[in-house]
Amino acid sequence: MESARILVAVSGGIAAYKVPELVRQLQRQGHDVRCVATPAALRFVSPLALQALTGETVRSALFDPSEEGEIDHIRLADWADLVIVAPATADLLAKMATGLADDLVTAVLLATRAQILVAPAMNVNMWTHSATQENLETLRSRGIQVIGPESGELACGWEGAGRMSDPVRIVAEADLSLGTDSLSGQTVLVTAGGTAEAIDAVRSITNRSSGKMGFAIAEQAARRGARVRLVAGVTALATPAGVERLDVESAREMREAVMAELPTSTIVIKAAAVADFTPENVESQKIKKEGLEDQSALMLRLVTTPDILREVCDNKGDRIVVGFAAESQNVVEAAREKIRRKGCDLLVANDISRDDAGFDVDTNAVLMVTPDGGVEETALLSKREIAGQVLDRVEKIMRERLG
Ligand code: CTP
Repeated sequence: MESARILVAVSGGIAAYKVPELVRQLQRQGHDVRCVATPAALRFVSPLALQALTGETVRSALFDPSEEGEIDHIRLADWADLVIVAPATADLLAKMATGLADDLVTAVLLATRAQILVAPAMNVNMWTHSATQENLETLRSRGIQVIGPESGELACGWEGAGRMSDPVRIVAEADLSLGTDSLSGQTVLVTAGGTAEAIDAVRSITNRSSGKMGFAIAEQAARRGARVRLVAGVTALATPAGVERLDVESAREMREAVMAELPTSTIVIKAAAVADFTPENVESQKIKKEGLEDQSALMLRLVTTPDILREVCDNKGDRIVVGFAAESQNVVEAAREKIRRKGCDLLVANDISRDDAGFDVDTNAVLMVTPDGGVEETALLSKREIAGQVLDRVEKIMRERLG
């Protein structure tokens, strides 16, 4: 990991007491850290502590001539490679969402062109309030990364979501955002999302895949310097920065796109939830109830779709191919059987019976299975962190091949 210039922006919540620990951990990773704080934040954490750690003045006022003289707020915004807002209060998130810049912290956040990570911390009712959630949606749609919050006992006495994530997690997310060049020169083909198999002019059969896992992999591969081609099925997600996207609907279209991209790809990661069956005939008009022989039932005959992963593996050459598996029972045995059957280099298995992993949640815990039957289990992590671990494993295979 290259050392980076990280600006930690602190807002006024009790979790501000964890900021010195965050600063220390970022410094241990070799980063150059500066802090800015709202006036309220300085009631929870001492500017002297932050100054002693960073060796720099902790700026808090926008129009203080002595502070502006030292480093003005625009230069501070330009200085940062990455900005971490920790803790991010409900008030600060609201100001960021509206673009207010009425103090030093918000002015820097509006002026910076660096990636911003926010680590919210607040009372559970403030967190779940639709105002806060709508603000977060706005921030996410602008590419701001949200870390946590975690659930547990809150300083206000309530139980629930609202604790700021641990500094270790914030540092791990910061490292993912900063990126490396470990995949430069590689072309990574990623599939993501579910397919939709048409029944008639208006209806289709699809599945509950959100595409989040595959999109996180595409995003992380781009951050590691790869050229990334993302074949996306049905999903509402925005294209990650630096990723080239091709939209498809059916399993057949996904197969065509993947096979067309295969010759120029060096790594293939198949996170899509491909339909195994598709209607044998697609009606060009909407099927009406009248006209059916039996008006109380409609018979659909489904036929199997092409197994794209299998076909990719049959034409693998020197490529590294990663498959995914959604399993609801005997996960390890099923994954070992699947990697043998498909012939890929790594199989990432999800246990879809868990509530906190798998479809349409932001967290995941997976098993990574290799052809020799080896199994590695991850903790419950954000999908970005899981994506990082899958790519670490791919890089390990690359190194092993080089001897
Ligand atoms: N896959 C594929 N083409 C298909 C079905 C699945 O390429 N027609 C890929 C998926 O993208 C995933 C892997 O195969 O990487 C495993 O998908 P999964 O649905 O778990 O396995 P199946 O092969 O469908 O086996 P089963 O449904 O019997 O578990």
